[in-house]
Amino acid sequence: KRRIGVLTSGGDAPGMNGAVRAVVRMALHSDCEAYAVYEGYEGLVNGGNMIRQMHWEDVRGWLSRGGTLIGSARCMSFRERAGRLRAAKNMVLRGIDALVVCGGDGSLTGADVFRAEWSGLLQELVSAGELTEEQIKPYSVLNIVGLVGSIDNDMSGTDATIGCYSSLTRICDAVDDVFDTAYSHQRGFVIEVMGRHCGWLALMSAISTGADWLFIPEIPPRDGWEDDMCASITKNRKERGKRRTIVIVAEGAQDRQLNKISSSTIKDILTQRLGLDTRTTVLGHTQRGGAACAYDRWLSTLQGVEAVRAVLDMTPTSPSPVITIRENKIMRTPLMEAVQATKDVTAKIHAKDFQAAMTLRDPEFKE
Ligand code: F6P
Repeated sequence: KRRIGVLTSGGDAPGMNGAVRAVVRMALHSDCEAYAVYEGYEGLVNGGNMIRQMHWEDVRGWLSRGGTLIGSARCMSFRERAGRLRAAKNMVLRGIDALVVCGGDGSLTGADVFRAEWSGLLQELVSAGELTEEQIKPYSVLNIVGLVGSIDNDMSGTDATIGCYSSLTRICDAVDDVFDTAYSHQRGFVIEVMGRHCGWLALMSAISTGADWLFIPEIPPRDGWEDDMCASITKNRKERGKRRTIVIVAEGAQDRQLNKISSSTIKDILTQRLGLDTRTTVLGHTQRGGAACAYDRWLSTLQGVEAVRAVLDMTPTSPSPVITIRENKIMRTPLMEAVQATKDVTAKIHAKDFQAAMTLRDPEFKE
């Protein structure tokens, strides 16, 4: 029987458990054995009971659970070749030749490097006397399939990452709560949301809550934005009678010179220029934990099933796929193409070519 491993890596995201559940059950359904690798790549490097065989009932009730029940870690040793050698040895000893990795672009890139090095790693293990030719014979190829798990929705090539809609829902609930108190005191609130270098959570939550102003990394405001923001907020309050003011700022927000725009800077502007009683709220990790929303439950399930199908379809020469969703269709995309496209967007932003960055995301984008 084929043995398929599954691990979660990088920042946890709601829906990761649903993905593990689907991979385990689809593997069993396809007459394979399923193995969970605990604590991300650390489990692969350390082996032992950090790699555990999973049965149908082991993942019962996992669909809605937040976080990742098999753990995640930012594993430094897997970044070194020595760590990957140990990982390769553990996989051969356990008879696992396919790995489904659920994580962000960094974690998925690590998986692809592992795959590219695989036969070299095995040869080195044989030369070092750690494995025999006989032992490595059945494992000439390592199959890697990626699932994008991240609240940030920052991967190119897919419309949604596993976890982003749960996080968005949580942010909207929090902003609604802040609305009540802001309304009561006629206050301003600057709410900082996660997303690393990506403004998706900030943009979508601002639209979904009817916020007054928004800052995201991809489209830094034009010089003089302080005046524009103050004028718009004044109009909303004075002419339209709005009692509360909400400004949403992505944690990666920056100006056109790539200087960080922080929530405290915005608060100071509103306080000093408008005399507005303003508070800041940094939502932090409440955005990442908690139950998966319905979207993430079905997305993780369908993508987990597709990941196992992809493992079974792979040939020795096919590139590692990442499972995506585009226009509501579950699809496979070459993993490194999606990672490269993600990096291209970041590079354009670093080069201050914001229009080009957005055009990569959406060819019809116009500022
Ligand atoms: O990638 C998910 C994320 O929550 C980002 O939005 C955030 O920038 C980062 O992880 C926080 O990482 P940590 O939990 O390690 O502080």
